[in-house]
Amino acid sequence: MMSDTTILQELNRAREAGYAVGAFNIFDYTSARAVVAAAEECGKPVILQTSVGTVTYYGARELAEMLRYLLKSAKVPAFLHLDHCRDVAFAKTCVDAGWDSVMIDASAQSIERNIAMTREAADYAHAHGVYVEGEIGVIEGVEEEIAADQGKHAEAAECFRFAQESRVDYLAPAIGTAHGVYTASPKLNFDLAERLGRELSQPIVLHGGTRLTEETFTRLISLGIAKVNVSTALKHAGIDGAQKYIREKPEEYNPLHFDESMYASLKEVVKRHILIFANGR
Ligand code: 13P
Repeated sequence: MMSDTTILQELNRAREAGYAVGAFNIFDYTSARAVVAAAEECGKPVILQTSVGTVTYYGARELAEMLRYLLKSAKVPAFLHLDHCRDVAFAKTCVDAGWDSVMIDASAQSIERNIAMTREAADYAHAHGVYVEGEIGVIEGVEEEIAADQGKHAEAAECFRFAQESRVDYLAPAIGTAHGVYTASPKLNFDLAERLGRELSQPIVLHGGTRLTEETFTRLISLGIAKVNVSTALKHAGIDGAQKYIREKPEEYNPLHFDESMYASLKEVVKRHILIFANGR
């Protein structure tokens, strides 16, 4: 359906009710269909997000066109979001092409520069009815073209300043989660999440959702996290589904069956996450 709510309204609604909206990195039409179908089966709103790499691969206009019908005809509110973008001009291109929301990741810059870049994107996006996510502190790990060897936890004072001055609609504070597969159990700053959840007017976004435990998700969501990003788990699910087809039907050469195997594997993983995120207080 054409959602009659905005992404910000959905995040605020989730925060108030104590659940989170899943934001899943899609990379092609099969993964996009799987995410929407999973959300429909769970009856939950959902965010399809695209990395800068995915947008560059297809082209912004082509990708937006490819997804338009799927998003419009979804039986749940479904939104398109640009993940980690370091280039304000690129984010503006996605705003123009029809994205509902864009993330400016200027977390590697000084706080002043981060505020200025996020604000420039926010002013442009807001004038087009589009929302903006920002990052504060540094989230460790590799998310496609965005790599940070060392994370840096956000500081509360910086988060409050950023939230006030950047005109951001929701923000991702680095609280110790990381992109990619965890090699050790992450040390999370629950106190910071709790304080930001209580005192910030904007909803909070959790990055690095792959392989966090159900208990961690539930605890963080109860503290006010309203959007949870998952990417690596989808890449694994897609490739695992493809490998399953090749293993089980080595002689078949049917591209639709190959796609179907990826789709089934992706849908199952996305559904599992949505059901965890939906478990409200
Ligand atoms: P993972 O790849 O760890 O799931 O992180 C996803 C993410 O935060 C995208 O911004």
